[in-house]
Amino acid sequence: MAILVTGGAGYIGSHTTVELLKKGYEVVVMDNLYNSSKIALDRVEQITGKKVKFYEVDMRDKEADRKIFQENNIDCVIHFAGMKAVGESVRIPLDYYDNNIGGTITLLEVMKEFNVKTILFSSSATVYGGKATVPFYEDSPLGVTNPYGATKLMIEHILNDLYISDPEWNISLLRYFNPVGAHESGLIGEDPKGIPNNLMPYIAQVATGKLPMLHVYGNDYDTIDGTGVRDYIHVVDLALGHIAALEYCTKPGVHIYNLGTGKGVSVLEMLHAFEKACGKELPYVIDPRRPGDIATCYANVDLAKKELHFEAKRTVEDMCRDTWNWQKNNPNGYRS
Ligand code: NAD
Ligand code: UD1
Repeated sequence: MAILVTGGAGYIGSHTTVELLKKGYEVVVMDNLYNSSKIALDRVEQITGKKVKFYEVDMRDKEADRKIFQENNIDCVIHFAGMKAVGESVRIPLDYYDNNIGGTITLLEVMKEFNVKTILFSSSATVYGGKATVPFYEDSPLGVTNPYGATKLMIEHILNDLYISDPEWNISLLRYFNPVGAHESGLIGEDPKGIPNNLMPYIAQVATGKLPMLHVYGNDYDTIDGTGVRDYIHVVDLALGHIAALEYCTKPGVHIYNLGTGKGVSVLEMLHAFEKACGKELPYVIDPRRPGDIATCYANVDLAKKELHFEAKRTVEDMCRDTWNWQKNNPNGYRS
């Protein structure tokens, strides 16, 4: 029996594939390499000493999806594949709806054809839309503010409706907070195209000298030091959260969990932690707030603790150390 990991060459998918292989699961990866490199999977093999069966396939291609299910004994899908940049989703919304929603529907149709009814879906804290008060609970009010978020919430609705139509489905909606960090080997990590949008990869590129300084988006929020506060989770902890969901969500149903640490960290706190990790001072300027940002976002993680026996263990220091180790060894990502 194998697990199909869609988007398995990507940032979170590659780290999850490592942890699955380490646990002895058989893994089949499907990715169209739109935002990733095959080298990530070579590195996964290097870390684990195990082979990864890889299909370079676009999930919207139904025939190609079918072939994967015909050639492998898949019993569960961990579904990471998707486009994920908020700003880009505002510029090219149709691509986001087509890829994320269209692609997921095609995948679900094929799963149904092959009677595979277990799926773990990569949702996001973005579905809380910034209206709920922190901490965000799984039953906090939902809403979205951009097309990317809309695709995540719509896929959650689709999966809920699928379960209502057929209660044999076993669906886990995993809402990630802010994944950062890298595998401790420094062999795999986050490899954004162009100038990073997100805080951690941006700081990492300031640390290597690739970018001149960090632009801090606002220091007038009602937070500890005026800068935005987020719940950063180490990507290896996040990967282990998927394994916990795989092992504990064994019954049909729609299982919803926040995957975060439950702790908020400000932009300046993260910057200073990174300075310690890389051993140098990192220049920054204060810029205006970024449109659409909220002051504070962190999870309540009691449900995952209670039901999945999952707790993120890695600290902010671990996140900075591992990001730095990856970044300095691979200053140009997988193209280094
Ligand atoms: P990523 O871009 O590194 O990985 C996504 C992978 O999906 C890429 O390898 C890409 O090539 C692949 N892909 C995209 N469209 C595809 C298609 N049509 N067919 C096959 N493969 C396709 O992103 P990530 O950070 O690893 O995120 C994984 C998932 O988690 C995404 O669904 C993302 O929306 C979600 N998520 C990410 C974050 C985050 O901050 N990284 C936060 C919350 C949720
Ligand atoms: C981003 C996504 C969100 C997704 C979340 C989880 C955007 C707008 N939103 O949000 O949909 O669910 O990741 O991964 O991309 N910051 C700076 N300077 C920078 C970059 C960021 O000061 O160069 C600040 C931001 O203002 C924010 C914090 O750092 O306060 C974190 O930002 P970022 O890493 O982009 O994550 P989110 O805004 O939480």
